[in-house]
Amino acid sequence: MATWRIAVLPGDGIGQEVTPQAVRVLDVVGKATGVGFEFEQALVGGAAIDAHGVPLPEATLTLCRQSQAILFGAVGGPQWDSVGQEVRPERGLLAIRKELDLFANLRPAKCFPMLVDASPLKAAVVGGTDIMVIRELTGGLYYGEPRGVERFADGSARAVNTMVYTTREIERVARVGFEVARKRRKRLASVDKSNVLIVSQVWRDVVTALAKEYPDVALEHVLVDNCAMALVQRPTQFDTIVTENTFGDILSDEAAILAGSMGMLPSASLGGSVGLYEPVHGTAPDIAGQGVANPIAAILSAGMLLRYSLNLVQDADRVDAAVMRVLESGLRTRDIAGGGRAAGTREMGDAIVKALEARY
Ligand code: IPM
Ligand code: MG
Repeated sequence: MATWRIAVLPGDGIGQEVTPQAVRVLDVVGKATGVGFEFEQALVGGAAIDAHGVPLPEATLTLCRQSQAILFGAVGGPQWDSVGQEVRPERGLLAIRKELDLFANLRPAKCFPMLVDASPLKAAVVGGTDIMVIRELTGGLYYGEPRGVERFADGSARAVNTMVYTTREIERVARVGFEVARKRRKRLASVDKSNVLIVSQVWRDVVTALAKEYPDVALEHVLVDNCAMALVQRPTQFDTIVTENTFGDILSDEAAILAGSMGMLPSASLGGSVGLYEPVHGTAPDIAGQGVANPIAAILSAGMLLRYSLNLVQDADRVDAAVMRVLESGLRTRDIAGGGRAAGTREMGDAIVKALEARY
């Protein structure tokens, strides 16, 4: 039987609370199937800054490189807001993405039927929403050069970030977009700002050229401002979306609301030899340490890990089904309870673990 080494990087805030629940779920899969998981924990983000003065210690990066997959929590928090831009907790995550060449970030945003009233949007609008946002993750404004700030004697400043993409960078993420769309409802929306940005014009040209290889996928180009509006106006018109780094960061948070809560959204970052799986929600400093965070995004991320890194598709399906089962039973964490009784992180984890065990 195979043994998989999984790097576990809980990070900061609620990352430390939800990640153990995702590990428990993988443990159930391991016990039921005989697949061996070796979990190795390491520091990242603010936790690593506190211990070692840097957001991504060398040992953490080495562990990531030597693992089959990475289970990631979240990084950041107000206590590290005053540290310099280059040693912020977020830098740890950005460095892992770049070092491991994780250029394609898959963020599914699905409206679970039993949670349709948890979304602040009308049920008639969000019902049936099932979108896969594919965000380019290692280029654009996040990494572009030149970058920096010039400070002047009068106290004013001039700051620069650069949005830059090469044909190769666009084509490889667009290809992921077409491939994913092909396995879904065969509709791909490429989102850009080509009416203003030269980078977006090239983006659009490259995607259009690549579309010739995918005649079975219906491609449309959508301007990012219009996409932001359409996502809350008629989200069911979208199937698969592919877009550049910053647009994808913003649109995927917006899409999260379609699922009822940020606490429901998993993600997979792919491209290099090691995949990284992380809930979209971040560290949620307002509720950290209280044991009330929703572990479902982390658990569904573990499901994506089984699906995309280990190709254990049936086990991934079981994880998804166990989550559905528990939601159907009516159990809710605070973010999706709508004022009703709310379970804590551990209680939700217990219920999903039990539902998963019952599926073997
Ligand atoms: C995300 C987050 C990160 C990003 C931060 C924490 C650096 O917002 O994964 O969406 O901006 O990419
Ligand atoms: Mg974000």
